[in-house]
Amino acid sequence: MEPIPLMTPYKMGKFDLSHRVVLAPLTRQRSYGYVPQPHAILYYSQRATKGGLLIAEGTGVSDTAQGFTDSPGIWTKEHVEAWKPIVDAVHKKGGIFFCQMAHVGRVSNYDYQPNGQAPISSTDKQIPPQTQLDGTVTEYSPPHGLTTNEIPDIVNDFRLAARNAIEAGFDGVEIHGAHGFLIEQFMKDSSNSRTDKYGGSLENRCRFALEIVEAICNEIGPDRVGIRLSPFTDYMECFDSDPETLGMYMVQSLNKFNILYCHMIEPRMTIVEGRYHIPHRLSLMRKAFNGTFLAAGGYDREEGNKVVAEGYTDLVVYGRLFLANPDLPRRFELNAPLNKYNRLTFYTSDPVEGYTDYPFLEEST
Ligand SMILES: Cc1cc2nc3c(=O)[nH]c(=O)nc-3n(C[C@H](O)[C@H](O)[C@H](O)COP(=O)(O)O)c2cc1C
Repeated sequence: MEPIPLMTPYKMGKFDLSHRVVLAPLTRQRSYGYVPQPHAILYYSQRATKGGLLIAEGTGVSDTAQGFTDSPGIWTKEHVEAWKPIVDAVHKKGGIFFCQMAHVGRVSNYDYQPNGQAPISSTDKQIPPQTQLDGTVTEYSPPHGLTTNEIPDIVNDFRLAARNAIEAGFDGVEIHGAHGFLIEQFMKDSSNSRTDKYGGSLENRCRFALEIVEAICNEIGPDRVGIRLSPFTDYMECFDSDPETLGMYMVQSLNKFNILYCHMIEPRMTIVEGRYHIPHRLSLMRKAFNGTFLAAGGYDREEGNKVVAEGYTDLVVYGRLFLANPDLPRRFELNAPLNKYNRLTFYTSDPVEGYTDYPFLEEST
């Protein structure tokens, strides 16, 4: 039988992966009061496989980092203790588990901030209200553009959070440098009009991201550090006039730190001849990056096998399909049919429905 490219082993630094199907970071908003809950033990262990890589949902690095109800944190002792049994359960199944270090920056409002203060950002430019899929409108408060002197404290928050993640037992961390959140607010020219050493030139706009990378590498070692980037996306009014150059500058700079992996989001899918089409614009960055490369955004089994076989990426990251199919690697191995995801329960707070009740193959056949 022909080997299935997605199911072939891969050595990612010191981690022996038995296949290339990675769980994407997925915010599920079921960590009540920002504290990870026992129901996450089942959720993550359902998706764990021996030698499979899981990336935990966006996890707040500090009390200014939050912008979603009940997304988890990792800045207090209570958070660390609450993560431990979840990480243990993944390890018991042989999984490799990274924690996504997140700070939403201005994608927040006074209600999520300590003492009702303004959310922090690269800028004091507010995001206009956004209409959600369910028709509700989300409002964002006017942010406080960080002063130059305030920035080292935020970098330090990321460093401490990474230390906490390792203390909780995670194998490593993924820095969330994507999707219009704080790090991207600095990187992209639509949301950075600063005139200090963190604004203006590309080098200056990427300085904040790279200071975080450096601080975390010094704290936990570069062999446990990954980063997620989305130079092509335009979420939350964050876009760049030259995404290719931004992406290339970042991967070349990351090489200097020898980090473990770079995880990149594809540009938005387009419909070509009635079928969704992934633009595959990450080639140059993949070639320039020295570590492991992860690609995400719109992949299915066929497209994932294709890009691994072609060497376009080392690993393929699955979001919605893995959310709805706890045994996704096995289904890919068998080319079995997939459960459909239910968008309506992505972010609801029920500890079971739409979370741990998606059936396994045996149950659905
Ligand atoms: C419910 C949901 C929650 C998400 N939460 C996060 C998150 O916490 N961090 C992140 O970087 N991306 C997040 N994303 C984006 C996914 O990681 C992924 O990039 C996206 O779903 C595209 O991949 P897919 O086509 O395989 O679903 C989320 C997506 C969904 C659907």
